[in-house]
Amino acid sequence: MATGEATGIAIVGCGYVADYYRQCLGLHDGVLRLTGVWDHDPARLTAFSSCWGDRAYRSMDDLLDDRSCALVVNLTTPESHAEVTAQAIAAGRHVYSEKPLGMTLAEAERMRAAAREAGVRLSAAPCNVLGESAQTAWSAVRRGAVGRVALAYAELDDGMIHRADYRSWISRSGRPWPARGEFETGCTFEHAGYAITVFAAMFGPVRRVTAFSSLLIADKRTDPPLPHPAPDFSVGCLEFDGGVVARITNSIVAPYDHRMRIIGEDGTLEIKEPWDYASPVRLRKAAQGRLGRLMERRFGGALASRIAPVRATPFRGGRGKPTMDFMRGVAELASAVASGRNPRLDEDFAVHVTEVTEMLQHPERFERPATVRSSFAPIAPMDWAG
Ligand SMILES: NC(=O)c1ccc[n+]([C@@H]2O[C@H](COP(=O)([O-])OP(=O)(O)OC[C@H]3O[C@@H](n4cnc5c(N)ncnc54)[C@H](O)[C@@H]3O)[C@@H](O)[C@H]2O)c1
Repeated sequence: MATGEATGIAIVGCGYVADYYRQCLGLHDGVLRLTGVWDHDPARLTAFSSCWGDRAYRSMDDLLDDRSCALVVNLTTPESHAEVTAQAIAAGRHVYSEKPLGMTLAEAERMRAAAREAGVRLSAAPCNVLGESAQTAWSAVRRGAVGRVALAYAELDDGMIHRADYRSWISRSGRPWPARGEFETGCTFEHAGYAITVFAAMFGPVRRVTAFSSLLIADKRTDPPLPHPAPDFSVGCLEFDGGVVARITNSIVAPYDHRMRIIGEDGTLEIKEPWDYASPVRLRKAAQGRLGRLMERRFGGALASRIAPVRATPFRGGRGKPTMDFMRGVAELASAVASGRNPRLDEDFAVHVTEVTEMLQHPERFERPATVRSSFAPIAPMDWAG
């Protein structure tokens, strides 16, 4: 790839989320160029490629024979991530993988080792830490808006999904939302990364995890029944290198609540929805006087002021557009490779997020509290976040 040329990317896995990635591709003109798409399900491949007018590869080998593709975007089911990522790495391609990078820490570490040996770069979703909302909150933390941060809370409760009308959730190219996968991969593996990545970028590597998980509703009313239902609730406390403690709760049982709160000695930052890059960041100062305490008791906190977004023209989703720029992580990886710098979401970061996620979903696999062995170098904020 010549300097200044858009990076050729190919999508593998043309399912539900692929439509959202595809919709965001146009936001990265000049950085990313789609060379084609592949899915091992012929019906999916045809539906997706004809919906978007994209070239459909004949096979994974056909894709890997195409030298114009420098980067594979792995959007397959979590259980296929390792196989597809390994194939692409072996063929000398950089890979951006949907989360989780692997189903276990060991699998993620194997992929990092393979990428290093092949001299390619590997990065993983989610990339909401690169979004305007997370960058605004992080910038506020850096400039001391809440003083010294002591505690952070993330709620990733998704409501009782199995009682929701999810069979009517259809992506643009006609893929129904893959509920069975969600119930068997587990809401923690699917969602914890949206909080871990943001907190880890702000507070550094996690050193210890104390977690609990459980399957509270085994029968998710699927037909046929689920052979391997995953825990549908988890809660864990993360101790970061710098002393901050975070509590992360995941469930598909408790009512929808995606609040993230960053609590410092002088106040609290709140993000309502980490799945929306435009979600406002609000600051509540710690209550001091009697009136402040009364308001806290009555309204759950002092009056909130809105922190100005750090980007002049922030990303706006909604009205038929995704609320997250799914392709931003891919563009970040491609730009890093093109300019020879380290990607913000690098291999070490992806392995670390996988390790902490596995500890949250499967605490029984680790000692308690579990000592995290992976680490990562500090991440730079986005250039526009100062
Ligand atoms: N569904 C969502 O809302 C959502 C949101 C964000 C991220 N994700 C993540 O995106 C990934 C994909 O999720 P999805 O919802 O699109 O699932 P999906 O089941 O709708 O799509 C996955 C696609 O991958 C294909 N596939 C599986 N193994 C393959 C292989 N070896 N080679 C080629 N194609 C293969 C399947 O045929 C299927 O079309 C998952 O990692 C998930 O965690 C999903």
